[in-house]
Amino acid sequence: MARRKKLYEGKAKILYEGPEPGTIVQYFKDDATAFNAEKRDVIEGKGVLNNRLSEFFMKGLNNIGVPTHFIRRLNMREQLVRAVEIVPLEIIVRNFAAGSMAKRLGLEEGTQLPRPIVEFSYKNDELGDPLVPEEYIIAFGWASQQDLDDIVALALRVNDFMSGMMMGVGIKLVDFKIEVGRVWEGDYQRLLVADEISPDSCRLWDIETGQKLDKDVFRRDLGSLTDAYTEVARRLGVMPGNVSQASKPTLIN
Ligand SMILES: Nc1ncnc2c1ncn2[C@@H]1O[C@H](COP(=O)(O)OP(=O)(O)OP(=O)(O)O)[C@@H](O)[C@H]1O
Ligand SMILES: [Mg+2]
Repeated sequence: MARRKKLYEGKAKILYEGPEPGTIVQYFKDDATAFNAEKRDVIEGKGVLNNRLSEFFMKGLNNIGVPTHFIRRLNMREQLVRAVEIVPLEIIVRNFAAGSMAKRLGLEEGTQLPRPIVEFSYKNDELGDPLVPEEYIIAFGWASQQDLDDIVALALRVNDFMSGMMMGVGIKLVDFKIEVGRVWEGDYQRLLVADEISPDSCRLWDIETGQKLDKDVFRRDLGSLTDAYTEVARRLGVMPGNVSQASKPTLIN
């Protein structure tokens, strides 16, 4: 089999050159990291689940006219996406206070916010992805005011879609993070939802019991991460059966 060119290896995924110009293959690893990679482990089956779940959400978004990088899933661990120029921001949408916001403002986790709040952090691992105001983003040229307006609109559409989808299966979307990228069409740029949407990048709480079904299970040692992600996939009808079994013989090259 022809070897592919590895473009980047991150904490959760590997990017390979895609089969056609302007495409990339995203390979989902089983590695889990938290607190800027101070805590790490290998969670068997996580990559398979996130590949499927991200496919499911991105496809759904494409279907309602929210543009994403997703083209198609290739196998259990890989999907083909459009290569984008990543805007160096983590775009966070919060519906309920949790995590760093709860800490910063002294709010109890789970407090409903008056409306969805969009915030930005600067994508820089060395600095620990610091929260930044719009003023910084524009002054340093990471995005223009027009980009930011478009990004907020995009993020809120993703929020509505994801909240509804989750609500339908008894899960509360507390908050989530997306990344956005640019593609050029002639002289015009378009912004697409990129990276991944998965329980790694969302906070998901069971509506009835409050049980956490996201990466906080790993961050806070609350039990089996695979069980939590499998439960999300099962409720959404995304993945039947036993994940770790299905994941074993499918590694490619
Ligand atoms: N469509 C795309 N085109 C180009 N780059 C992408 C695309 N989608 C995601 N990326 C980038 O690919 C990388 C995915 O790898 P991973 O999620 O493992 O990174 P990470 O370790 O979290 O590091 P980072 O801090 O860069 O996100 C990220 O840097 C992400 O910004
Ligand atoms: Mg990442």
